[in-house]
Amino acid sequence: MLQTRNPIHDQWSSRLAFIMAAVGSAVGLGNVWKFPYITGENGGGAFVLVYLICIALIGAPIMMAEILIGRRGRQSPINTMRTLAIQEGAHPAWGWLGWMGVMAGFLILSYYSVIAGWSLAYVVKAAGGVFRGADGAATGALFDSFLQSPASLLLWHTLFMLLTVAVVARGVRSGLEQAVTVMMPALFVLLVILVLYAFYEGDFARGVDFLLHPDFSKVFQHCELLDSGEKSCRITGEPILIALGQAFFTLSLGMGAIMVYGSYMPANASIAAATLVIVISDTIAALLAGLAIFPIVFANGLEPASGPGLIFKTLPIAFGAMPGGQLFGTLFFILLVFAAWTSAISLLEPAVAWLVENRGLSRIGATALTGVLAWLLGIGTVLSFNLWSGESFQLFGKTWFGLVDHLSANIMLPLGGFCIAIFAGWVMARESSREELQLGDGVRYRTWRFVIRYVSPALVLLVFLNTVGLL
Ligand code: PFF
Repeated sequence: MLQTRNPIHDQWSSRLAFIMAAVGSAVGLGNVWKFPYITGENGGGAFVLVYLICIALIGAPIMMAEILIGRRGRQSPINTMRTLAIQEGAHPAWGWLGWMGVMAGFLILSYYSVIAGWSLAYVVKAAGGVFRGADGAATGALFDSFLQSPASLLLWHTLFMLLTVAVVARGVRSGLEQAVTVMMPALFVLLVILVLYAFYEGDFARGVDFLLHPDFSKVFQHCELLDSGEKSCRITGEPILIALGQAFFTLSLGMGAIMVYGSYMPANASIAAATLVIVISDTIAALLAGLAIFPIVFANGLEPASGPGLIFKTLPIAFGAMPGGQLFGTLFFILLVFAAWTSAISLLEPAVAWLVENRGLSRIGATALTGVLAWLLGIGTVLSFNLWSGESFQLFGKTWFGLVDHLSANIMLPLGGFCIAIFAGWVMARESSREELQLGDGVRYRTWRFVIRYVSPALVLLVFLNTVGLL
């Protein structure tokens, strides 16, 4: 018999609506902005391979676990974890996992909104024809001077946060479903156009080689561009951890975003099928972004390891040179903002759902409160690129932004995902997960159960141990 706990929040109107919303959450800055720049810093193909392995063996099974837990609990992640733990005869302290997710969501949203703000600013630049005829030096200078103004970064950050809060306050269903259905496919089309441009005008062979041809001598090499313009590389276990963190980040896993969306999912929808669609779309989006960017990077003598500014320095060269580039560029950044928007919404939703359930706040009140908190935290990221970029403001060799990103994406999400795997694989009774997944008791269910019990948690643990230097 299926669980029939009554949801207290909205439900998606259909199976497709859930899939679209989850794809909206997954596909975002993580694919278009973060994936290319961390691939550039971590040596290319070998990093991408480790990332893809993490997606398949850790991300996909944990996504199924998160959705099934969410749908069974039908509440905010904090209450879902608590209730299901009690129901399965475990300790209610599992609710803490929901708390860690809420914290990770705040941390991520705080900088996500700043970067989405950059994209908003670039909509205006693209529309104003600023990129016309610009070469790599010009786009680099444009971006660097943009970063030097904390006031304008703050303005764009504020604007984006307002956009996010506006949607979450109205309830994630209204508007989101229809908008994602149109905008997501449009973003894919634009990415394909950019790849075609890169094919004809960029150094496509070198780009593909860098992205898809693993050079295992670089698997432990992490490079960064120093302020002086020099490249500094060191040997470390970190790239593996970054690849793992990115698998969680890009799929919106480990913090309850997909769990809370799962809790609004209709009971008859197939979790495995939905997961497949989400994971494949997300991976295609990231690879397309990489295929669009690296050929342009190499054709223009740019540095793949140039960090968080990579796409903002690279793509404008293409928009400045291609016919109709002003229109394409504008459209591209609009769609990027939109993709970020649908992700940001899911970053806020777990906290808001909990405040509505437990603190009796209205949706509007809960959203305003959480939005302001994340906005405040974001100021640290705004300053990380100018006033606080110097070494005296760094902790563990990282800026505020670097630290918040590292802590949330590389530590908290994998840790959250690890606990979710343990919960779904070991705490929940076999009957519970089998009933929710509706895969029968055949090879598909057994494979998932084996992977979620042994493979995914062991791999996460291995990566952690490797990073701490125990292996
Ligand atoms: N998956 C989003 C992206 O790739 O841009 C970011 C994200 C959204 C991470 C929601 C985590 C999350 F819970």
